[in-house]
Amino acid sequence: MKEIKIGILGLGTVGTGIARLLQENGSLITQRLGATLTLKKAADIDLEKDRGIQFEDGVLTSDADEVVNDPEIDIILEMIGGETIAKDFIIKAINNGKHIVTANKALLASHGNELFKLAAEKGVSIAFEPSVGGCMPIIKTIRESLAGNRIVSICGILNGTCNYILSKITNEGVSFEDALAEAQAEGFAEADPTLDIEGFDTAHKLAILSSIAYGAEINLKDIYVEGISNITAMDIEFADQCGYRIKLLAITKFNGNAIEARIHPTMIPFSNPLSNVNGSLNAVTLSGDAIGEMMLYGHGAGMMPTASAAISDTIDIARDLLFGATTRVPMLSFQKKHIKAIPTQPIDDISGYYYVRFSAIDQPGVLSKISGILGEHSISIKSVHQYEQKLNGVVPIFMLTHHAKESEIQKALAKIASLDITTKQPALIRIEGSS
Ligand code: HSE
Repeated sequence: MKEIKIGILGLGTVGTGIARLLQENGSLITQRLGATLTLKKAADIDLEKDRGIQFEDGVLTSDADEVVNDPEIDIILEMIGGETIAKDFIIKAINNGKHIVTANKALLASHGNELFKLAAEKGVSIAFEPSVGGCMPIIKTIRESLAGNRIVSICGILNGTCNYILSKITNEGVSFEDALAEAQAEGFAEADPTLDIEGFDTAHKLAILSSIAYGAEINLKDIYVEGISNITAMDIEFADQCGYRIKLLAITKFNGNAIEARIHPTMIPFSNPLSNVNGSLNAVTLSGDAIGEMMLYGHGAGMMPTASAAISDTIDIARDLLFGATTRVPMLSFQKKHIKAIPTQPIDDISGYYYVRFSAIDQPGVLSKISGILGEHSISIKSVHQYEQKLNGVVPIFMLTHHAKESEIQKALAKIASLDITTKQPALIRIEGSS
C-alpha cells in the first residue's frame, strides 16, 4: 500500500480535529485514496495538554522545523493561524518542496499573492478550503464545480460568531455582551473577538472568495467593512416588524470591469433563505450565468467541520501526487497569467434601499427638517415610524427609503447629524433583496 506522509503545525482546535479525523476515519480515507495518509509529525508548543487522542511515539514535537524539514513529509497542514510565524513556516515548507493546506484566512487575505507566487515558482500547491466557511466546500465549488460559469455574485454569512450573536438577540432577546460571551465559550470566536464583531474575519474570507471567483489578485484593503457592534435590539425588533432579519453579509459582485466587495449588517426579507440561517451556521448563495443561483449551508467553524475541509484538501493533493501531477486545479481557480488586479468599486458608488434610525427631539418641525434634507439629496421615503419610546425627551424615528444612492444617503445623514434636533449619529442599515 502506498503511503503519503503529512505533518501538522499547531495542535489547537482544528489541528487536533485533523489528527482525530485521520485516526477515526483512516481506513475509509485509505479506501477512497488508494493509499494511506500517515501523520508523521505534529508540532505544538504545548505537548502536555490532554487532547483526548493518542499519538504514535515520535509524532509529537515542540520544534516546528522538525516538521517542515522532514524529507519524508509531502504535505504540511498549517493550523497555527496569524500572520507571523505561520507565514515563516509556510515559506520554509514551500522552499522545501512541501505542499500546504492552511486554514489561515488572515494570512492569505494579506499575503496570499506573495505566497501563491512562491508556491507556483516551486511547483507546489497551497490549498485553503478550511479557511472559508468551515466544512462548506465553497472553494472547491467555485474553483471546480462552477468552472464553466461566469460568476456574477456571491452573498453569504461567513462568520459564525456574528450570526450567533444576531440570532440570539433576535430569537431569545439576549444582550449583545451575553451572546458574545456564549459564542466565546462555544469556541468559534477568534482569539481576538473584534476580528469577528467588526467584520474583519468576514473580510478575510471575502477577499479570498472574490479573488477565485473573478480571477482577481487578492485585495483585502479595498473591501468595505462594517461590523455588528452598532446594531441595537431596537433595530432588530423594527426589522422583524417589517419582515426582515438583520445578518452580517459578505457581498461581492462583478460587472466585468470592477468588483463590488462589502461586509456590513444587512436587512434581508424573511423570504431570503439566508434569513433562516441561525446560530453559528454559515451559508453562501452563489450566482452564475449558467447555474442561476445555488446555495451552500453548514458549520462554518468548529473542530471537526473545519478538520473535514482540511482533510478534503489533503486528499486532493495526495491524489495529484499519486498520479504524478501537481496544481492540476489552479490554486486561485484561474491560470496564473490570467489573474489580474481588478479595481474595487468604492462603497459610495453603490445604490440600494436603506433603513435609517434617528434619535430626535420630540417637537414640532423635526420630521419635516429630516425629510427636507433627505429630499434635497433625492432620497424618497418609503415609510416612517415613530413609537412612544421617549427617553429624556428623545424618540427614535425609523425610516425605510426607496432606491437611493449611497453617496447621497451619507451626505444627508451627515447633515442631519449636525442639526441640534438629533442627539446621536443616525443608524444606517443597507437592505438587500427589497423593492
Ligand atoms: N471566528 C470565525 C467565526 C471562525 O466565528 O466564524 C471561523 O473562521
